[in-house]
Amino acid sequence: MTDSILTVLTHEEEQAGLSLAQLKELVGLVEYDASSDPFPVTAQDAVGFVVGNATQTATFYQLALGMDLVAYRGPETGVRDSKSYVLKSGSARFVFTGGVTPDSPVLDHHRKHGDGVVDLAIEVPDVDKCIDHARSQGATILVEPHDETDEHGTVRTAALATYGETRHTLVDRSRYDGPYLPGYITRTTTVERREGHPRRLFQAVDHCVGNVEIGRMDEWVEFYNKVLGFTNMAEFIGDDIATDYSALMSKVVASGNHRVKFPLNEPAVAKKKSQIDEYLEFYDGAGCQHMALATSDILRTVDILRENGIEFLETPDSYYDDPELRARIGQVRVPIEELKKRKILVDRDEDGYLLQIFTKPMGDRPTVFYEFIERHGSLGFGKGNFKALFEAIEREMFARGILC
Ligand SMILES: [Fe+2]
Repeated sequence: MTDSILTVLTHEEEQAGLSLAQLKELVGLVEYDASSDPFPVTAQDAVGFVVGNATQTATFYQLALGMDLVAYRGPETGVRDSKSYVLKSGSARFVFTGGVTPDSPVLDHHRKHGDGVVDLAIEVPDVDKCIDHARSQGATILVEPHDETDEHGTVRTAALATYGETRHTLVDRSRYDGPYLPGYITRTTTVERREGHPRRLFQAVDHCVGNVEIGRMDEWVEFYNKVLGFTNMAEFIGDDIATDYSALMSKVVASGNHRVKFPLNEPAVAKKKSQIDEYLEFYDGAGCQHMALATSDILRTVDILRENGIEFLETPDSYYDDPELRARIGQVRVPIEELKKRKILVDRDEDGYLLQIFTKPMGDRPTVFYEFIERHGSLGFGKGNFKALFEAIEREMFARGILC
């Protein structure tokens, strides 16, 4: 194997006790030659959110999604106008930021977009090389490469703009061993897990999906091809993902080894407003729609999430009773009745199969939600489930009065 990046686990992955073989199965890694990659990527570093109440959101994610609080920054650490809580589950890291002072720019962002993703941060071995390449390809550099240092070491970081008001912060943390970034202090969870609660409910971020304006998907695919050197992984267009009422187009770009995967959706013209139109309207522009979180035991994860109050999209029993589906998916690791009981979807392609389920929107606006995914060889995204999934979303949209 020529790719030295793929063979090395990140500090986060090692800390989380993940092996390369596990990670390969969890998120569907592939081998690739990094030597000619103009923008080498190590892993997804963090997902940064702006939320209306970071303090309560951090508690909610600890209680309901089983995440652990690891770091904090706010007025107590010298940041006057905002609070940020850093949570982890395996190698997945979420950062929730809320405004504290009335004049905080965080609150302006929240007024416009509601709870949402502002930063899909990427860990890279060479920030300067990536930024030089991104600039040469016409990217907007929001933060120039610079060092940030505290008693735990030095992080080199920069940021570039992507769709909407979303950014990619680039982080080289190879010379740093603090809890997150310089300026953050260690905070540990005060939640006591009940007996028998697994160590975590998900191990890694599998993919993060962006919704962009109609007619602009190809522009953003080209952006990821040219600026980040990402390759096109799969292509689902038109009828693949159209129901009677709504339609969308979707293409997936990924880093060389598929550690970072960004599907991009745009609405397609249809009889009625699509779920992507609804997102763009309520988020007030392009933004991140869902994060897929990888788990090695989706049945147990879903059982606990439901006990914790997380709500999932409904899948009708007819989905599971369809002989065509049963023939297509063949044998999976559990009887289909177990999936039916939990409304977990299943899809198979030439490489294997995957199990997946989608939550309802997490916040007040019908924007950001989660997918939980358990891969068994499949490198896909559940193409065979898109129709069933969208019909479920449309039932929710009818209930919200978006479709009538
Ligand atoms: Fe997904």
